Amino acid sequence: MGLDVNFKETNVPEYGLPDPLTCIDGTKIDDERLWFEKRRPELLELFEQHMYGKMPGKPEKISFKITSIDKNALKGKATRKEIAIVLENNHLELQMDMLMYLPNVQPKPISTFIGLNFFGNHSIYHDPNISLSKQWMPTKIALGIVKHRATEKSRGVRSSKWPIEFIIDRGYGLSTIYCGDIDPDFDDGFQNGVHPLFYTKRQTKPAADEWGTIGAWAWGLQRAMDYFENDDDIDNRRVIVMGHSRLGKTALWAGANDPRFAIVISNNSGCGGAALYRRKFGETISHINYQFPHWFCEHFKRYNDNEEQLPVDQHMLLSLIAPRPVYVASAEKDLWSDPRGEFLSAKYADLVYKVLGTDGLNTNEMPGIHQPILSTIGYHIREGGHDVLNYDWERYLDFADFHFGITS
Ligand code: GCU
Repeated sequence: MGLDVNFKETNVPEYGLPDPLTCIDGTKIDDERLWFEKRRPELLELFEQHMYGKMPGKPEKISFKITSIDKNALKGKATRKEIAIVLENNHLELQMDMLMYLPNVQPKPISTFIGLNFFGNHSIYHDPNISLSKQWMPTKIALGIVKHRATEKSRGVRSSKWPIEFIIDRGYGLSTIYCGDIDPDFDDGFQNGVHPLFYTKRQTKPAADEWGTIGAWAWGLQRAMDYFENDDDIDNRRVIVMGHSRLGKTALWAGANDPRFAIVISNNSGCGGAALYRRKFGETISHINYQFPHWFCEHFKRYNDNEEQLPVDQHMLLSLIAPRPVYVASAEKDLWSDPRGEFLSAKYADLVYKVLGTDGLNTNEMPGIHQPILSTIGYHIREGGHDVLNYDWERYLDFADFHFGITS
């Protein structure tokens, strides 16, 4: 195998999946109590040990400061706030800047989406009042990112992926943080970003079972949740964590760890996200560890070309979110993310969702293009490629309305 890529269904090997409902000691899980007391903690630990690495708890100190507020944003439809979330540990400090849009007409408290973004808060909407990120980011001249820094030209370059007005009109808030505030997305041996805040004396990089960059991003999302618990405008029982691609993997890991996220949405999350590794279709463990050696924990490299030995697969990641609603979205041309593998993961997580008394995933067969399924496990595949489109957002809003019991 190595770094060859398989895009043919006929080349998918025969594989067996580990059973989410059988414990390491052979105990079969058939009720909620045993799931939460025994199997769920055991599975979470397997994911920590072998894949995403352990993350720390809350830092010693966390403080929040509103750095800007405009009650008349989006022509009066919304309030825009910027919040500095300052984290301190071991005498080191890290600041994450969160941008929030909240609908003005909606009675408070408001349900919000929270998602990390790839290129700075200012990239998600063309508004000169949003602070321009000063952080390191990957150089992309076409996006106005020059010598690893954003320029004025990068305002709004990602707005097609964040239909703010539409979200506000549907009565939801949108909150976002640049992922690079938490950990810049390149392999620097974990010297920048949040990791050093948690090093013990003489530690210079995370241990082999400690968090990589995806773990750090997921941890950052949890700190955003800490903020929501302190903001009376937000309904902290109705926070939806959403992410695309590498940030979709992150949303799932955050949702698996933190039951405060009421709904979890993964858009085209692929390998290391919703897709099953054992299908070896599109991106594999070898590919991802080769190209992004900093995303997972060091132990994960044991499974390069060795998927069968991994004690878990990604249906188990989805099952850690149960019984909370989780949505997996695929795109027809996004073969690198293995749409069928994303669907099958949802299908096999259904076992756990059913034991926990939900309707699970309401289909056995992969649905056709544009036939969304809105059961407790939601799924759709849409036409087009690797992206977040309005079609996706419309489904996520429908899904949230449905599970929050909101009828218009
Ligand atoms: C690469 C990577 C994927 C990832 C994607 C993205 O394609 O191989 O795993 O999901 O980048 O984040 O856009």
